[in-house]
Amino acid sequence: MRRLLRRAAASAPASPLTPETATAELRITGLSHRWANGQTVLDDCNLVIPKPGLWMLVGCNGSGKSTLFRLIAGLIEPQSGSISTDHQSALVFQNPDHQLLLPSCSSDLLLGMDQGLGNSERRERIRLRLEELGLAGLERRPIHALSGGQKQRLAIAGALASEASLLLLDEPTALLDPDSQSSVLAAVQELCRRPEAPLTALWITHRLEELTCADGAAEMRAGRIGPWMSGIKLQRRLQHGSSDR
Ligand SMILES: Nc1ncnc2c1ncn2[C@@H]1O[C@H](COP(=O)(O)OP(=O)(O)OP(=O)(O)O)[C@@H](O)[C@H]1O
Ligand SMILES: [Mg+2]
Repeated sequence: MRRLLRRAAASAPASPLTPETATAELRITGLSHRWANGQTVLDDCNLVIPKPGLWMLVGCNGSGKSTLFRLIAGLIEPQSGSISTDHQSALVFQNPDHQLLLPSCSSDLLLGMDQGLGNSERRERIRLRLEELGLAGLERRPIHALSGGQKQRLAIAGALASEASLLLLDEPTALLDPDSQSSVLAAVQELCRRPEAPLTALWITHRLEELTCADGAAEMRAGRIGPWMSGIKLQRRLQHGSSDR
């Protein structure tokens, strides 16, 4: 059943879902946010993620991308508009060192897991999460002995261990070398395209080459998000300095 995650107290009720968006993975309607200093960072912003997949957002520094993620994740409340999804979301940040808290891979994954699970169920879930992110067999590996890409994939495994099915990845490859960048991108792409229970991922990037891996890409500017288009099309537009909006 669809969950209306957050709606600003004073806003009008969200309009009824149209047939093609009734099954949307995430639906944001008329979302606005103004900081206490008067700066409007989101201005009647709308976004529909129509189906599972890897969806990418680009936008200049300060255009409001991370603020949007904080709103979706519930870290800040909408001042007007609504956010609705059936999914539990989880944030993944640029620097996995800020997200990995315990000394080994398995202890870190345990942290986000339902504490009511039995030991064998937890072990099995840890094994599966590690396998999904290309980290099979690394249960006992100390975090400090992982590469940057492995750390970032472990952070994503941790997000999934908490049963999240909407990943909010805020420039997850910004600090990685090209090989690690590819490994993280490939892992998320595979999770989003697997036949059974494909994930929905919203991925913020400044690295335009990543757009070619997106199932859809959009540009954020002036507090709003433009239409979805193919990643290659958006990449070309941005490289040639034009915009759709
Ligand atoms: N807690 C806050 N209080 C006041 N202003 C804030 C706060 N957080 C962010 N801002 C401002 O909101 C604007 C949007 O910030 P945000 O971090 O969402 O941008 P961004 O698109 O993620 O940028 P970047 O690409 O640099 O990460 C910026 O002008 C920023 O200074
Ligand atoms: Mg940001």
